[in-house]
Amino acid sequence: AHVWRGIINEYLDRLPFTAEDRIVTLGEGGTPLVHAPSISAEVGAEVFVKVEGMNPTGSFKDRGMTSAITQVVKDGDHTVVCASTGNTSASAAAYAAHAGLRCVVMIPQGKIAAGKMAQAIVHGAELVQVDGNFDECLEIVRSLSEDYPIALVNSVNPYRLQGQKTAAFEIVDQLGDAPDIHMLPVGNAGNISAYWMGFREALSHGATRTPRVWGVQAAGAAPFVAGHPIKDPETVATAIRIGKPASWDLAVAARDESGGWIRAVSDAQILHAQARLADEVGVFVEPASAAPIAGLLAAAALGEVPRGATITCTVTGNGLKDTATALAGREVEPTVIPVDVEAAAAALGL
Ligand code: F0G
Repeated sequence: AHVWRGIINEYLDRLPFTAEDRIVTLGEGGTPLVHAPSISAEVGAEVFVKVEGMNPTGSFKDRGMTSAITQVVKDGDHTVVCASTGNTSASAAAYAAHAGLRCVVMIPQGKIAAGKMAQAIVHGAELVQVDGNFDECLEIVRSLSEDYPIALVNSVNPYRLQGQKTAAFEIVDQLGDAPDIHMLPVGNAGNISAYWMGFREALSHGATRTPRVWGVQAAGAAPFVAGHPIKDPETVATAIRIGKPASWDLAVAARDESGGWIRAVSDAQILHAQARLADEVGVFVEPASAAPIAGLLAAAALGEVPRGATITCTVTGNGLKDTATALAGREVEPTVIPVDVEAAAAALGL
């Protein structure tokens, strides 16, 4: 049986590393591409979700972090820093721990999910909460990395996108070709840029075409839909609560060169899509990750989904990171019974 060795070893010939490099890996990538039958039937296409919550720290960030941290070690740096809405900091903390590096994370106070906060803490990162949003955190860490010997591991670091592009390679490998349409949530816009790079490079590795790229933002944090940065982004999907995306030009190029679009969905649409993914597909994702499914359902309602198209959606992060949002408004009191089979049968109405 083939044993997955992490994205750098698996795609070494397509990444800026060699077999001589000391590769920092937690075995990331190799994630499932899961068919979504009921959603496929509803939208009249074949819909698959790329389950990035299966990565070592529960999000797609691990693909970029194995490459970013490998390069940091190669450069001989000892401290890494990032701004984060939670997943980048969780991933940076874990990979820095593995490599024996100091890790500093700047997060918007009170606006990251509890599971992500726990990850940064248990992996030993130094946590700084900023009385501001992600965009402001990113400004601080960019300056810090310019003025001090600290390596920045946000997606403005080009090694991040190099690693993240491998998800597109995997989709091509899993389907046998590129899909007609690829959908994903858009926040700081690194991932959409990485996928577009990956799908274009896949043309030299088995793909016969590139997909249209459909990006989805949260309505309260949709600078690409507005056409300009947003000052006070707000959404239940805290991972993409971002108003001033760093990879603006690359994301616009991905959208336009692919013949795609970037649209917005409401928080209610996001939570509805999250519940449907859990209930009907068996995949529990965090709210931001449900945005592409919400965007797909909305496009289908407008009659804009090509009949029979193959559509892949990246679901970016694991639902376990943010159980509070998933359980909000739900009945969570289980029935309590004595240790008794008849009471169990009665409780089940059998
Ligand atoms: N989905 C999840 C779960 C995320 O954590 C992020 C970004 C995105 C989507 C958007 O990806 O920024 O490349 O457009 N999270 C970053 C973080 C900002 O700090 O964890 P993007």
